[in-house]
Amino acid sequence: MDRNLALEFVRVTEAAALAVGPWIGRGNETEADRAAVESMRKAFDSIRFEGTVVIGEGERDDAPMLFIGEEVGSGDGPQIDIACDPLEGTSITALGRSEAISVIAAAQKGNFLHAPDTYMNKIAVGPRAKGAIDITKSATWNLQEIAKASGKRVNDLMIIILDRPRHAELIAEVRETGARIRLIGDGDVSAAVAAATDSTGIDALIGSGGAPEGVIAAAAMQCLGGDMQGILIFRNDDEKARATKMGITDFNKVYRLDDLARGNVMFVATGVTNGSYLDGIRYEAGGARTHSVVMRSETGTVRDIRTAHRFNRKPRYGW
Ligand code: FBP
Repeated sequence: MDRNLALEFVRVTEAAALAVGPWIGRGNETEADRAAVESMRKAFDSIRFEGTVVIGEGERDDAPMLFIGEEVGSGDGPQIDIACDPLEGTSITALGRSEAISVIAAAQKGNFLHAPDTYMNKIAVGPRAKGAIDITKSATWNLQEIAKASGKRVNDLMIIILDRPRHAELIAEVRETGARIRLIGDGDVSAAVAAATDSTGIDALIGSGGAPEGVIAAAAMQCLGGDMQGILIFRNDDEKARATKMGITDFNKVYRLDDLARGNVMFVATGVTNGSYLDGIRYEAGGARTHSVVMRSETGTVRDIRTAHRFNRKPRYGW
C-alpha cells in the first residue's frame, strides 16, 4: 500500500470532523451524522485510489452513501478496502460529551473481516498483554493474565466498559476482581485505541459493542502492536441471515486479530470532541484546529497531526 495514502486519508477524517463541528452539543444526532457522511464521501474522491467500502454506513438499502460495496476514491491507483465510521459516537456528539472521532481504516483487498451490523463481544489490550488474552475464558481469568503480562496487580488495572444494562454482570465481575472500571457512554473504537496506548492508563476494553467498530479497532491494534479478539453475537435469525449473506458460516467463531484485520493496514482518526488520546475540534478566530492520528502497521509509525484550518481560504467538503 502506498504509504502516502495514510497522510491523504487524514484530510478526509479532518473534513468529516470539521463538518460535524457545528453540530456538537446541538442535540441532533441525525444532522451530525449526515454532515460527517456527506463530507467524508466527498473528500474521498479527491484522493487517487480505487476504494471499496467494506465497513461503512450499512447496506445499500439503508445508507445512501458509504454503503457496503460502494466505490470511493478517484477510481484509479491502488485497490484498497475501506472500513470507515465518519462519526463514531453520534449521541456523544449530540450531547457534547467526550470521545467522538471520525475514523478510517484501510487495508489491501480482502484483508478486513466483512462484519455484519451485529454486536460483537470484544477484548482489546496493548502490546504488553499481547498473546495473554482468551475471550472464551472469564473476565476474571483475562484480568489476571493481563495484570501478569503487564507487571501490574489486578487492582492497578483500569478497564473500559460501555455503560449498558447488558454489561451489569460483567461490571460486577470486574469489580469483584478489584480492578477499576471507566464506564463510557459510547465510542469503543476510541476505547480500544486508549487500551493500546500507554499514556492513557487504560489496560483493556472488555464487553460487547458494534461488530463493524470491532474491525476498525482491530486495524488500530495491528498498528499499535496490541491484541484483540471478538465473537459475533446474534440476537435473532434476521441477524444470522445477514451474517450468512456476508459469507459468515461459523456463528461461534473466535475472531483473532488477524481474522479481523490483517496485512498492511492504516488507521486514521480525527478528534471531534475531546478524548483520552485525541483533542476535539477547537474553533479560533477565522478557523479551527484539529487533532488527528495516523498509524501504519507496516512500520508501526504513529503520527500525531495537529492542523490549523482557515475558513476564509478555499473551504471544501461542506465545512
Ligand atoms: P455510533 O457511532 O453508531 O453512535 O456508535 C457508537 C457506539 O458506542 C460504538 O462505539 C459501539 O461499538 C456501539 O455504539 C455500541 O452499541 P450500543 O449503543 O447499541 O450499545
